[in-house]
Amino acid sequence: MIRFSKTIRFTAVVLLAMASAPGCAKREAEIKIGEYGSLTGTTATFGISTKNGIELYIDNLNAQGGIGGKKLRILVEDDQSKPEEAATAVNKLIAQDGVVAVLGEVASSRSLAAAPICQSAGVPMITPSSTNPKVTEIGTYIFRVCYIDPFQGEVIAKFARNTLHLSKAAVFRDNKNDYSVGLANYFSESFLKLGGRIVSDESYSEGDQDFKAQLTVIKAKRPEFIFIPGYYTEVGLIARQARELGLNVPMLGGDGWVSDRLLEIAQDALNGSYLVNHYWESDPNPAVQEFVQSYRKRYGATPDGLAALAYDAAGVLTDAMQRLLKTDPKSFEALSGPPNADQKDARARLRGLIAATRDYPGVTGRISLDDRRNAVKTAVFLGIENRGYTFVATVEP
Ligand code: PHE
Repeated sequence: MIRFSKTIRFTAVVLLAMASAPGCAKREAEIKIGEYGSLTGTTATFGISTKNGIELYIDNLNAQGGIGGKKLRILVEDDQSKPEEAATAVNKLIAQDGVVAVLGEVASSRSLAAAPICQSAGVPMITPSSTNPKVTEIGTYIFRVCYIDPFQGEVIAKFARNTLHLSKAAVFRDNKNDYSVGLANYFSESFLKLGGRIVSDESYSEGDQDFKAQLTVIKAKRPEFIFIPGYYTEVGLIARQARELGLNVPMLGGDGWVSDRLLEIAQDALNGSYLVNHYWESDPNPAVQEFVQSYRKRYGATPDGLAALAYDAAGVLTDAMQRLLKTDPKSFEALSGPPNADQKDARARLRGLIAATRDYPGVTGRISLDDRRNAVKTAVFLGIENRGYTFVATVEP
C-alpha cells in the first residue's frame, strides 16, 4: 500500500479545494442547469411532476453522451410553493451554484417573483407551464413552452358557450394568485363577448379550507356552471362543498386543475365537469407514447401535463445548446467554464438561440416561440367521468 506523508496529503486537499473553487480557471466538464419548483407545500405535485419530466429528459441525453461530450447537471431547489422562496431559490442557483440557465416555475406568481433575478443576471429562464402573460414580459431572457391565458380563457369561454350551450356563469377565483385572477378576467371578457352572462364573481385565497359562505352566495344566483381558475387542492375541496350544499352544476377549470391529487380530494364531486390541459396521454403520436412508456417505467405513474411540459422545456433548452455547439463552439465551451465575461456572452448567445426555436417536436406539440418568447400551442379539453378523465377535443390557436 502506498503511504503519503501528512504534507503531501495536506497539499493534495488544498489543490483539490482550489480547483473546485468558483473563479478558478480550471475547465468544468459539466453544464449546470438550475431548476426551482414546489417540491413541498400546497402545490407539491406541480414541482414533483416537473422535476421528474426534466430528469427523464436530461438523464436520457446524458446517457447518449450529453452535448459535445459534456454532461448536463441539474441543480434543484424547493421553493415550498411560496413566491418569496422562489426568489431565494433562484438567487442561490445563480449566485452560489453558478447555473447558466434556469427551468421553472409552474405557478405564474412564483415565476413572476424569480424571473427578474434571471433577467438582471443574464441567465435564460424557461418556464414549462406558467401561463400568465406577464411572466415573459419581464424581459428578453424569459421564455415559456406553453400557451398563455388569454388563449386559454377564450377557449374555455367558447367551449361553455358554443359546445355546452350555457349562458349563465359563476366565476370563483383565487384572489392572490396572478394566474387565477388573470384567467378569470380573460374568461369573463370572452364569455361576455359571446353573449354569456356572469351572474356571480366570488373569490377565495390559497390555503382556505372552507368555501361554504361564497358557495351559498353563488348558489343563490342560479348559475348554469361555475368557472374555477384555481389550483387542485382548493378546487377539490370547493367541488365537494358545493355538492354538499346541493349546488350540482358542472364546473369548468383551466390547467391549474391538473394533478393526480385532484380527484382524490374531489372524489365524485367533479363528475360531469371539464378542464383544459396541455397534452393528452393517449395521443397516438409515437413520440408521446414513447415518452409515456419511459416515464411510467421510471416513476411508476402516468405523466401529467406538467411532466410533459417540463420534458419539453428541457428539450427546448438543450436543443438551443446543441445549436450553440454547432454554430459557435467557443461560446459553447464557455458555458461549462468559469463565470466570467466569456460565459456571460455565451449565455447571451444561448438566449438568442432559444428565442429562435421553431418547430421543436415536443411531446406537448410543435413548439415555435413568437417574438414575445411565448409558445403558440394547442389546448386539450378533458371531461371528468367516474373519477377518471376522458378526451373531449383539442383546440387550435
Ligand atoms: N398555468 C398555471 C399558472 O400559470 C400553472 C399550471 C400549469 C398548473 C399546468 C397546472 C398545470 O400558474
